[in-house]
Amino acid sequence: MNPQDLSDTDNFEAKPTETNPLDNVEISEALSYKAYAKINLSLEVLGKRLDGYHNLATVMQTVNLYDQVRITPASDLEFDCSIAELVDENNLVWRAALQLFEKLPEENKQGARIMLEKSIPVAAGLGGGSSDAATTLMALNDLWGLNLSRYELLQEAAQLGSDVPFFIYGGTVLAEGRGEELTQLPNLKTSWVVLLNPDLELPTDKTAQLYKALYRSDYSEGSITRQLVSNLETGQRPSPSLLFNTFERVAYEQFPQLDMYRHAMVSAGADYVRVSGSGPTLFTLLDAEEEGEEIVQNLQAEGLQAFLVETV
Ligand code: C5P
Repeated sequence: MNPQDLSDTDNFEAKPTETNPLDNVEISEALSYKAYAKINLSLEVLGKRLDGYHNLATVMQTVNLYDQVRITPASDLEFDCSIAELVDENNLVWRAALQLFEKLPEENKQGARIMLEKSIPVAAGLGGGSSDAATTLMALNDLWGLNLSRYELLQEAAQLGSDVPFFIYGGTVLAEGRGEELTQLPNLKTSWVVLLNPDLELPTDKTAQLYKALYRSDYSEGSITRQLVSNLETGQRPSPSLLFNTFERVAYEQFPQLDMYRHAMVSAGADYVRVSGSGPTLFTLLDAEEEGEEIVQNLQAEGLQAFLVETV
């Protein structure tokens, strides 16, 4: 069950239904699930809590850049990933799978082969790992017939990380508390989003470090997010002045080269640039696809990793 002991599944591919002659386990075609990335339209850190976490008011939004979680029934639990370094016991997908495995009754222990194909940049402020974990919970809940309710899945998700519950919902969501108190909002009218993933060295505990670097004076009381929510509830497009992120100051301070990437986005045609989550991914929202295409082409011509995505 140790993911580091995995057999040669590096090039694992979905296979049509067949019978494995060794253990007579039927291998059916892998079920494939999309794990979408997110951006934070607003992100206000309200203050530090006694448990060491911070209270937030944030509007999160899924976009159609996604990883794929492929699940095949198997007798044992196996995990593999298109990025070999991500295969370890701390991977949130593996932890999500173990958490649900524990819920299976002794007389009905089942396994699964989980293959994660990454497209979302890692540790980028796009929630990739959290989304992969939430998707794994939902997929294994189906595969193993656990029949966990959405509420129960949210509880499982919250144990894995503050951002994970959001991905059980997806769409446009207000997240409060440490990120696990969710209110589904009307879906944002489809918008185009240019994402720019800066090529920066990131510390492994990037998120924790950025929280630590916040000053008291960075905290706000949530009024920008409340205004944004009321705009979204009346179907208005979010005004750039409401796309506020507490982490902007510390992100530019901790990653001094980030400013160069912001400049590149402005030169490529973006009217404004925002940091997603704790960064370092930068984004801008657009009404028209052509505007987004032009910005992305300009950025790619500079050799930068830019994506044009839509809100979903
Ligand atoms: O919940 P998660 O494990 O993703 O959080 C990673 C780190 O980010 C936490 O250990 C904590 O330092 C910080 N964090 C926080 N307040 C939150 C969410 C995360 O301080 N609401």
